[in-house]
Amino acid sequence: MDFYEVVKKRRSYRFYKPDMIPEKDKVDRVLNAARLAPTWANMQGVHYIVVQKPEKVKMIWKAIDQKDKFSNAPIFIVGIIKETASGINKAGIKYYTLDFGICFEHLILAATVEGLATCWIGIFDEEKIKDILEIPKKYRVLGITPLGYTIKEKGEISDRLSLEEIVHYDKY
Ligand SMILES: Cc1cc2nc3c(=O)[nH]c(=O)nc-3n(C[C@H](O)[C@H](O)[C@H](O)COP(=O)(O)O)c2cc1C
Repeated sequence: MDFYEVVKKRRSYRFYKPDMIPEKDKVDRVLNAARLAPTWANMQGVHYIVVQKPEKVKMIWKAIDQKDKFSNAPIFIVGIIKETASGINKAGIKYYTLDFGICFEHLILAATVEGLATCWIGIFDEEKIKDILEIPKKYRVLGITPLGYTIKEKGEISDRLSLEEIVHYDKY
């Protein structure tokens, strides 16, 4: 799949086949794509927790608490980073969330190439997630995605602003 096809094919999938565990080599390739992402001064602060024990997967769904929106997936990838594991620019902007976003998007695009569905989930009970997965206090949980096979493929993306609305040449 060429890059532009991958970008067009990636969608947020919320309904998964519950029993299909993605093959380990697929999951490893997806994680490796995240590992190769660029980060501030190559600090590589993002860690990934693969949640695959059924009882823990259930607990994560509960901590996400967006019940009607999703149906069970067999695996979650939970992404975490410490605030101190990235830089701060001259304007005082902390880059750890950006580092995280780049890594997690690499992961999501690689999953698309592997034929696996994802949905970046940003709304969840962070303390519950940290408790369930025994994540040290200093880490922030910035993204969670189910990883699995969708019940139904989605069509092409059609709800984006046009280039004319967002691209500016030489001045705003
Ligand atoms: C940082 C981030 C957080 C998100 N959090 C949630 C979430 O908590 N629940 C959810 O259903 N979708 C969530 N989404 C998915 C977006 O709603 C989705 O990407 C957007 O509507 C565009 O749809 P598409 O991904 O299918 O192209 C999140 C996406 C991003 C990038």
